[in-house]
Amino acid sequence: MYSSYTIMFLLFICTWGAKADDPLGQFCNENSKISSGGKLSANIDKLLAELALKTPSTGFVATTYGKDQDKVYALAQCRGDVSTQDCNNCIQDATKQIRQRCPNQADARIWYDYCFLRYSDKSFFGEVDTSFGIFYFNVENVTDPEAFNKELGALMDHIRAQAVVPREKGLGKGKSVLSPFVTLYALVQCTRDLSDISCSQCLAVAVSNFPKFCSNRKGCRVLYSSCYVRYELYPFFFPLDSNNSGPSNTAKVMVYT
Ligand SMILES: *[C@@H]1O[C@H](CO)[C@@H](O)[C@H](O)[C@H]1NC(C)=O
Ligand SMILES: *[C@@H]1O[C@H](CO)[C@@H](O)[C@H](O)[C@H]1NC(C)=O
Repeated sequence: MYSSYTIMFLLFICTWGAKADDPLGQFCNENSKISSGGKLSANIDKLLAELALKTPSTGFVATTYGKDQDKVYALAQCRGDVSTQDCNNCIQDATKQIRQRCPNQADARIWYDYCFLRYSDKSFFGEVDTSFGIFYFNVENVTDPEAFNKELGALMDHIRAQAVVPREKGLGKGKSVLSPFVTLYALVQCTRDLSDISCSQCLAVAVSNFPKFCSNRKGCRVLYSSCYVRYELYPFFFPLDSNNSGPSNTAKVMVYT
């Protein structure tokens, strides 16, 4: 899958202590440098204000601002299972943080668990983008990989099919009881600008990279610009199951292809 152009960084092992408004990651495209005082930059600010205002009520906004070479395209989306309040908090953080982290780029993206936001001076609506990915995986391994991978595969197939049913708006989630004490939880979310086929395609790429970064891991997250895929052995999606044992040690890998 990955060519010699792949650049990979193993960034850190984290437990907890990250601030609430810290994103899971961001991508500032260094080939899209802009001057901070320019028209394009002003248009980005206008667009971000609009996204901050409009996204929480619907969970999704894809819109443009400006004309000709100063036109900006932007998309903001919350995960389909999060509340309006959580969506609002996430989007407010995202609109602030993305400009601090990518102050001089026309193409910028920021990932959180509850939301995703990106903008660019080039149109990207409806296009599958898996060129840049962030992977988080649990550093612990499952004890019975064969049985686990079979259950994981079945659950992923199920929720991937769910995500492309139009009324689900790109969201699929479910759980699988592995034993009286162990339950597997999984969620997939495509950006809502994608067609069913494009959504399927993004999820297929994400799942096909499980063996590369998440083989036999107790948990894994794949963050792309077009879809989000996650599984854990603890509840993480809403409505939240009781007995939230919470995350353990997680490592992060960023991949450019
Ligand atoms: C999990 O498996 C990987 C790959 O086989 C190994 O490198 C790693 O050390 C294992 N993790 C633990 C916590 O045993
Ligand atoms: C949650 O944990 C309690 C005690 O640890 C247990 O009695 C209960 O069955 C658990 N519930 C679920 C849904 O696993």
